[in-house]
Amino acid sequence: MKPVILTGLRANNDLTIGNYLGAILPMIDMAKSKAGEYQVNMFVPDLHSFTTPIDHAQLQEQIMHNLRVFVAAGLPIDHDDVYVYRQSYISAHSELTWILDCFTGFGEMNRMTQFKDKSAKLNEDRISIGLFNYPVLMAADILLYNASYVPVGDDQTQHLEFTRDIATRMNNQFGELFAVPLAVPKQHEFFGKDQGLRVRDLMEPTKKMSKSDETGKGVVFLSDTPEAATKKVMSATTDSFGEVKFDMKERPGISNLLQILALLSNRPQNEVNAEWEGKTSYGDLKKAVAEVVSTFLTDFQARLAGVDDQTLLAKLEASETAMQSVAGQTLYKAQSAVGLRPKV
Ligand code: TYM
Repeated sequence: MKPVILTGLRANNDLTIGNYLGAILPMIDMAKSKAGEYQVNMFVPDLHSFTTPIDHAQLQEQIMHNLRVFVAAGLPIDHDDVYVYRQSYISAHSELTWILDCFTGFGEMNRMTQFKDKSAKLNEDRISIGLFNYPVLMAADILLYNASYVPVGDDQTQHLEFTRDIATRMNNQFGELFAVPLAVPKQHEFFGKDQGLRVRDLMEPTKKMSKSDETGKGVVFLSDTPEAATKKVMSATTDSFGEVKFDMKERPGISNLLQILALLSNRPQNEVNAEWEGKTSYGDLKKAVAEVVSTFLTDFQARLAGVDDQTLLAKLEASETAMQSVAGQTLYKAQSAVGLRPKV
């Protein structure tokens, strides 16, 4: 069995450059360089898409759109070790979630910062139980395939740690059921980073750039026209220091721009910082960032328009059949461990 690299992106709205840089790019870099040595699973967690209210009439198209985004971003779907699938087509995800739910503490879920943040924005009656226990579904997504490596942005770190906790807890009680994904620092090492990535909102750089942001003013969506994205970058919030310096804590606006510049131009952060630090024109830095963002969007959108749906659908069908079998085997082991099926 090859080690598994796995990630998913919810289909609740258009994806952003935060999603792209935090999860899609590291995943696809690995898929391109390591498929053959590793198994690569990239999926749409469609069941996760409505933990907060969405327009359901759009969901089916959004799911297909996100799958096309994976291909446009460079996922090599012609490779036999690459699997691309929709979570809800593999019923083991829901079934394992229920089992894991019964071994998960209420307090454990209640401490998840993403739940606290998201629920704080909703009226109590609209905070769904799905939002509350969605880290359990995420754990099932990972454990069903014995994934070791899970590229995610910084906001998912706590959920990944929970996945390790619940896997270890089940293994301690029932014997070796699940492969435990690598600890977060080891994940960063594997993906060649020193920490989890957090692209910030351009208007409010103390918070992350989020696809579910209400105004979208500080968010660059992958579907933004280069002109609209340029406007957003040029109106990014900076600071009153008057001199460029990379310091995410004290100068999050400028540092966020430097970060986007380094990532989209595929250059080391310290090299980009050295080029810009000490300069006094924030406008020039914004122009440079707007340029790389525009070029990226132009190229990406051209590739997106060229994605062949027939090839994608054929790949989906083959991957979903293969993954039903893999996930089914892990589910059976868990069912057997808790006494729902005869001992294996
Ligand atoms: P989601 O759909 O909110 O986000 C998808 C991925 O994008 C990353 N991300 C960011 N990275 C850097 N900067 C940002 N501003 C930024 N915003 C989002 C997220 O960290 C994530 O990696 N629960 C997950 C989806 C999921 C999943 C899984 C991921 C479901 N099952 C199993 C990995 C493995 C989520 O809601 O991500």
